[in-house]
Parts: sequence; C-alpha cells; structure tokens
Amino acid sequence: MEPHRPNVKTAVPLSLESYHISEEYGFLLPDSLKELPDHYRPWMEIANKLPQLIDAHQLQAHVDKMPLLSCQFLKGHREQRLAHLVLSFLTMGYVWQEGEAQPAEIPGNWALVQATNAILQPNQEALLQALQRLRLSIQDITKTLGQMHDYVDPDIFYAGIRIFLSGWKDNPAMPAGLMYEGVSQEPLKYSGGSAAQSTVLHAFDEFLGIRHSKESGDFLYRMRDYMPPSHKAFIEDIHSAPSLRDYILSSGQDHLLTAYNQCVQALAELRSYHITMVTKYLITAAAKAKHGKPNHLPGPPQALKDRGTGGTAVMSFLKSVRDKTLESILHPRG
Ligand code: HEM
Repeated sequence: MEPHRPNVKTAVPLSLESYHISEEYGFLLPDSLKELPDHYRPWMEIANKLPQLIDAHQLQAHVDKMPLLSCQFLKGHREQRLAHLVLSFLTMGYVWQEGEAQPAEIPGNWALVQATNAILQPNQEALLQALQRLRLSIQDITKTLGQMHDYVDPDIFYAGIRIFLSGWKDNPAMPAGLMYEGVSQEPLKYSGGSAAQSTVLHAFDEFLGIRHSKESGDFLYRMRDYMPPSHKAFIEDIHSAPSLRDYILSSGQDHLLTAYNQCVQALAELRSYHITMVTKYLITAAAKAKHGKPNHLPGPPQALKDRGTGGTAVMSFLKSVRDKTLESILHPRG
C-alpha cells in the first residue's frame, strides 16, 4: 500500500501516523495481527508449526503442496505486514531446511519528529528537549540489546538459528540466487534477514546527518528496499528535511551542540556494544562450532562464516559504520 507522502518542505508539522509509525512502538506494529483472512489459511497453518516442520524435515513437503494464492485479498498495511513476515519465514525455512549443502534466503521516533518540527518552527528549547530525549532512547536501545545475553544462547544461535536468517544474495552457497517459479524466469537474489533492514538506525543516521563510507553506505541503502514502503518514505523525508547539523552550527548555541554530540556519542556506543555482541555470537561461536553442532539442526552456514546474514564482511563493515558515526561529532565554529 503506497504511503501518503507529505512533502516535508511544505507540510508542517511532520506526523508519524502517515508513515504507519507508532508513537509508542516505533516501527513495530502495535497489536500486530496474528491471523490473516480465511483465504490465506494454507499459509498460516504451516507458519504456526514452522519449528516442528523444520525439525521433522517436513517443511518443504508441506510448502510444495501449498496452493498458489494471490495477494489481492490482503486488506491494508497490517495484513500485508503479517503476510510479508509469514512468507519470508516460510521461504527461509524452505531453503535452509536441510542446511547449507542442499539449499532449495520507539519512542526515539517521537523525538525525531519533535526535533524536526522544532527546526522548522524554529524553537530551540523544544529542539534541546527532543535531542535529550533522543539520547535517552538510543541508550535504552543499548540496554535492551544486553537482554540478548539472557535469552539467546550463542552456540544454538550460531549453529542452529542463523542459517534460517541467511539469504541468497552475496551468499557463496547460492551464487545464482533463488528461482521463484511463476514470478520470474531468472533466479532472484535477496539478502537474508538483518537488523540493518530495521528502520530505526537509518532514521537516526539521517536525522543526525551521519554519512557512511561508500561501501557501507551502499549496503545500508540497499537494505532500505526490505522495509515497509511507508517506513522507507519516512527516512527519505527526514533526509530531505532541513539539516540539523547546519541548524546547530548556524545557531551558535553550545548547549544544542553538546546535546547533538551526546546523541552521536550514544549512537557510537550502541554500535560498539553491538560489535561486542557480534564477536560473541558469531566470531567466538564460530570457533566453538568447529568442535561439533547440536544434533538434528542443519549446522552452521560455512559460506557465511565471515559474513553477516545480510552478506557483509562483518567486522570491517560494522567498525566502519561505528567510526563514521564518531566522525560526525561537531566542533564549535571559530
Ligand atoms: C545475535 C545477535 C546479533 C548478531 C549476531 C548481529 C549481527 C549483525 C551483523 C553481522 C550485521 C552486519 C550486516 C549483515 O550482514 O547482516 C549487523 C548489522 C546490524 N545490526 Fe545486528 N546482530 C545481532 C543483533 C542485533 C540487534 C538485536 C540489533 C538491534 C538494535 C542489531 C542492530 C543492527 C544494525 C542496526 C545493523 C546495521 C549496522 C548499523 O547500522 O550499525 N543487531 N548485525
């Protein structure tokens, strides 16, 4: 469903609803649907027992028998979001069921909108508050990231789960991509699931005016094609809005500059923390996995040994993204 595209240069103020973004849940869908219309029951019946079907090596057989259903009966973006999720998981489960050898692929938003509108008005006090709120939101994300250690075992993640997040683009195990029968005459290449496809950090980068290196930036830019169109439109509109950095520099206000730098610093800390997590869940887990894998699971993807599920050369990419964030720190003029 095409989002309503307010033109940020003329339409003031920016509002979240028009981009299907929730004030409370950010880019997540509040009260997301658990069921699709009855027409799509064949999809949902398989999706509801996905782990069991993969364990029993039965997913491919079930999907093969699934009728081909048109998307035309999906009403609105909520049903489209659930259908997208269900079909992505069915496809990745189907492809990786037998492992790599036989592949068959926030409140922070409120602060962003407040800050953008504060520049348009302009209102320096409101901008200051919004920046302070944004910093707290970024720090909250870092804290939440820490919960990964409580809930996700690195060995099981590495050897069992990760392959199902792999795609068929930049993946040596499937160099040609995946044939989507009835959709395309040529195999198609799509990246696997990666948090690089989440809209949140793209929105922060655009708002704070962080510019990544050509290579990292190109990858991140491609990841926007995996977002719901209304969310992609949101980051594009933040990009076209008046520059926060220019506004702060021309205002000559040290307290705005400090608040901006604290946001950049918090974002770099989030990215550093993420790097330590990736070290634990990928690098260290890979070394351990050499000595065996949990039984009945497909095993770690060898082709992705040094790569992220999105297909990047992990560490150099993540460090470049973190370092470019830090380079955005502003220094007072004169
Ligand atoms: C076991 C947990 C995780 C692992 C192993 C992991 C791994 C990776 C890898 C390898 C990349 C590089 C892109 C790719 O090839 O996919 C990446 C990117 C990224 N990840 Fe994670 N990730 C994990 C959890 C998370 C979580 C929970 C978040 C939520 C904040 C997150 C946020 C990001 C972001 C935003 C990027 C894009 C790079 C950036 O903008 O800094 N990751 N991750």
